[in-house]
This record gives sequence, C-alpha cells and structure tokens, in this order.
Amino acid sequence: MDFPKKVRWMQDILPEAHKYHAFLKKVFRHELRKNWFKRITTPVLEQKSLFTSAVWAWTDVVDKEMYNLIDKKGRELVLKPESTAPIMRAYIENDMLSEPQPVFLYYVEPHFRYDRPQKWRYRQFFQVWAEIIGESDPILDAQLIYIGYTVLNKIGLEKDFKIKINSIWTSKDRQKYLEELTSFYENKKHLLSEDALRKLSTNPLRLLDTKVEDEIILANEAPKISKFLKKESKEHYAKVKEYLDLLWVPYEEDHKLVRWLDYYCHTVWEFVDNSWRSQDAFGWGGRYDMLSKKIGHSEEIPAVGFAFGMERLVEAITSKWVTLRNKDSIDLYFIQLWDEAKKAVLPLTLAAREAWINTQASLWTPSLKAQMKKANRLEAKFVVMVWVMEVNSWIYQVRDMVAWTQEEVKKDDLINYIIWKVWKENLNFYCPAKDLIIKN
Ligand code: HAM
Repeated sequence: MDFPKKVRWMQDILPEAHKYHAFLKKVFRHELRKNWFKRITTPVLEQKSLFTSAVWAWTDVVDKEMYNLIDKKGRELVLKPESTAPIMRAYIENDMLSEPQPVFLYYVEPHFRYDRPQKWRYRQFFQVWAEIIGESDPILDAQLIYIGYTVLNKIGLEKDFKIKINSIWTSKDRQKYLEELTSFYENKKHLLSEDALRKLSTNPLRLLDTKVEDEIILANEAPKISKFLKKESKEHYAKVKEYLDLLWVPYEEDHKLVRWLDYYCHTVWEFVDNSWRSQDAFGWGGRYDMLSKKIGHSEEIPAVGFAFGMERLVEAITSKWVTLRNKDSIDLYFIQLWDEAKKAVLPLTLAAREAWINTQASLWTPSLKAQMKKANRLEAKFVVMVWVMEVNSWIYQVRDMVAWTQEEVKKDDLINYIIWKVWKENLNFYCPAKDLIIKN
C-alpha cells in the first residue's frame, strides 16, 4: 500500500512556522480586542446553499473551488471557502440584531478552496477576519483600514505594503456600470483570451483585476466606476478618505479595484504586498451591505470587514532578518538515573511548573549522556541530577549552566532557590485558569 501523503496543496504547519502563526494571531487579537472586537467561531461545514445564494454572479469560488460533500441524509454541504456569508448567517441566526449595534466580531480560522496551485495559494489556508455588522457609517470602514495598517506596521512590514482603495457601486448604480463595461469589451472581443471571453459572458467585472499584460492595458482604458457613482456613494467615499487622512493612513486610489461578488458596495480596499516577493495582497476588505438580503433576510444589514492571509504574512515576516523572543527557554532541567529517582523527579517537575518555572525532564530516557545532551541542546539554565544518594539524602546538586558553578540545595528549598536565581521578572506568570470566577 502506498503511504498516504497529505492532500495536495494542503499544509502541515510545523512547530517553527506555528510560532509565527501564534505571534500574528496575538498581535491581531490584541489590536482587535482593544477596538472592542469579540471572537466568534462558525462551523467548518456549512450548507452549500449559503454560498450559492449569496453569490449572484459566476465566480470561481462558488463554481469550481468549493469542497462539496453530501452527508448521510443527502444534504449538500461544503467546507467553507470564505466567511462573510457564514458570519452574516450567524449574526442573523443568533439574533445579534437585538444587541447594541454595531457588533464587532473577529475570528482566526481555516478556509478551503480548490484553488489552482500557484505560489502562496493553498487549498487549506488560515485567515484572520474582522467584521463590523449593523451600522453603515463610513467611519467604520476607515477604522478597519486603520487597524489593518497598524497591524502590518507592528509586525515589521511597514515598508512592504501599500493600501489601495476604491468606491464601488450600491445596488442602484451597479447595473448601469455593468452595461457600459460590457459594451466596452464587446467591441474588443478579438483582443481577449478564451478565459477573458468567458469572464465577459459570466461576470465582466472580473476582467478588471486581470494579471494578463494586454488585458491590463484594456482594463486601464475601461470605463471607470467613479463616473457612475451616485451621490450617496460619492459622499460615503469622501468621508472614508477624510477619516483616513485624519488618521495619517497613506492610500492610493485604484479604479480597477472592484469586487466581483455582487454583495460588496461602497468602499473596497486591499493591502498589497509591494515588496520584491509579489504584487499580491496580504489581505483585503470591503463593505457588504447587500449580503443579508441575498441569504434570505428581509432587511439590508450594513456590514464591513476584512480578511488577511496568515500564510502570506508568515512568509513575508520570515523572509526578513527577524526572529521571535524565545518564550520556551528552559529554566530547570532534571536528570534522573534510577527508577526511584524518576519517582522523586516526576512530582518535583510538576511542582516547579506550577510555580511558573519552565521545567523539563526526559523521564523516559535512561542514558545519562543522552539526558545531558538534551539539557545542553535546550540551553537549560539550571540542571539538577538525581541519583541514589540524592533520593536518600534529599539534598540536590544544582548546576548553573551559564556560570558553570554548582551548589547543594535541600529538596524542599529547590523551587524557591530556582525562583530566586532566575529572578521573578523572568518567569512567565501566565495562568489562564485564573480567569474563571466561581459564582456563589
Ligand atoms: P479572501 O479572498 O479570502 O477574502 O482574501 C483575503 C486574503 O487571504 C488574501 O488577500 C490572501 O492573502 C489570502 N488568501 C486568499 N486565498 C488564499 C489561498 N488560496 N491560499 C492562501 N492565502 C489565501 C475574502 O474572501 C473576503 N470575503 C474578505 C472580507 C472579509 N470581506 C469582508 N470581510
């Protein structure tokens, strides 16, 4: 039997990369929580109809890229390819409309797309999303752009990205623009590739974000959405720009920046990677006031949000000359050389960990040499060797691996001795269980 390898274009995120994923998550979480966002998780599986009803026009995501499955009762389900539709579903289904508005939500989750294999496009990828639902004020669009801008700056990418923004239609001005755009391309059909012709007949907006050189030239000449915007859209856009200026957020306007999912309206923006790596986006966002009605709600619910690709951000950070502070450095390492020693070391290891001392011991390793090697590799600050004599006398030899000194310490004093030696400031006092308050 062939060894069953991982599914193509899915990723194993190994511990080294995970450090960066965790770092990113923490930075995003910190910024978002400061701005009142609360975390939400929606299921990995959703009804297929949630996505097919949300998307009016032909798109790759719905047409070709969904992982479909049928459950035992014959229901059509999909691994979620994106989360705007699920988050709006969750907002409506959980009656968040009755909470103070707007509702600020964020999540860090995997998404699944049967995407064409290419650099930085995976079939399972992690994203951080932030959404503000229930309010249409343009100040929220600007605030979201500001949060993305702040995070990218804080994670060391300040020189690697630019922000592109545009204002697209509302449901009122969209149709007129689509007609103009289609008639522009109809006259140039002979210049279009087969793929572009398909886009023209299914979703002409997609012709604007082409990567094909000749088609980019055409897209530059194509009618601009700005000419078709109604007063409401123009005012909204002007306000977003005013707030961005106020917050000193630099941006470029790009009329070709559109979204071919037809529930987007007003502001769209992109955080473009402008480094030598690529011209792709680290993330993008937009307003999607028209989505709630598309998925069957009676009212339009204003909403705006963004999504960042974690893998791309990790790639961008690690391609630089950076490292992360090592929070796993070992304060204390026990070496044991006998079954009774093992029994003495096990409770001590656990007690030291409870006292926030980062402690390790290879209790499963019999060889002294192998244990010593591991202590060295882990760069343990203090090593305690426990053998027959130590077990019987309750006095331990503590070796300072940095100063190359050794001291005798009574077993009962060992934990306090190490705390005193590594200094309280260096201990990691993180204790999540303390957040649980028992009500009387
Ligand atoms: P999206 O198309 O998933 O967003 O793109 C967001 C970011 O996720 C992209 O800029 C890219 O960095 C990353 N990304 C997208 N596809 C892949 C992939 N196959 N592999 C690796 N990374 C990927 C949305 O779907 C929107 N609905 C964004 C949004 C949030 N709108 C409102 N809220």
